[in-house]
Amino acid sequence: MIKINACIFDLDGVIVDTAKYHYLAWKRLANELGFDFSENDNEQLKGVSRMTSLDILLGIGNLTFSHEEKLKLSDKKNQWYVEYILKMTPDEILPGVVDFINSLRDNNIKTALASASKNAMTILKQIDMENYFDIIIDGTKVTKAKPNPEVFLKSALELGVESKYCIVFEDAVAGIQAAINAEMHNVGVGTPTVLTKANYVISSFEGLNIETLKLNFFK
Ligand code: BG6
Ligand code: MG
Repeated sequence: MIKINACIFDLDGVIVDTAKYHYLAWKRLANELGFDFSENDNEQLKGVSRMTSLDILLGIGNLTFSHEEKLKLSDKKNQWYVEYILKMTPDEILPGVVDFINSLRDNNIKTALASASKNAMTILKQIDMENYFDIIIDGTKVTKAKPNPEVFLKSALELGVESKYCIVFEDAVAGIQAAINAEMHNVGVGTPTVLTKANYVISSFEGLNIETLKLNFFK
């Protein structure tokens, strides 16, 4: 069986379903700009940075703006998004997440939170999880967005664990690609038809612990 020394978690869509709040805020912006934005379109935005998300959104609407205008648009979206996340409570932690992380601690496996979001600390505070991870690398600490592996490599470095002993948990296509680029094992959280490049895909953490994960997936 392979050795696992660290588990690295994405936040949005893995620990909490903030992907739905990102979607609602982007959709509101798209509608205000005069075009529609579907949940299917939203898959392209998962895991990528705020400004890249805006570029993809504007591409869908076939619109062009100056850099200044784009900063205003992304600020507007972020204000709407922050309104949603400031209402979050620990009830919104996805099923099985806390038990799974506790099972890692019991097995002396290190944990990291690795998110592209600049709002990660706000979310972790809202859900009372800011002290759950050995280290946190968020969007304020990286410059290169997923699929660039920077956020995962930085996490592994701070944890003092080699890439080959890490498992990344990710809900985004760009995030799975970032884990592959970091040469880490990865588990997709979502649907196999979307996360086609993931080593394995789970629909939720419910009932999962590190031993069953290693036995079933990483023999
Ligand atoms: C990622 C989300 O975690 O963070 C993306 O999956 C989002 O959808 C990105 O664009 C940046 O988030 P924020 O909160 O800094 O706008
Ligand atoms: Mg995500």
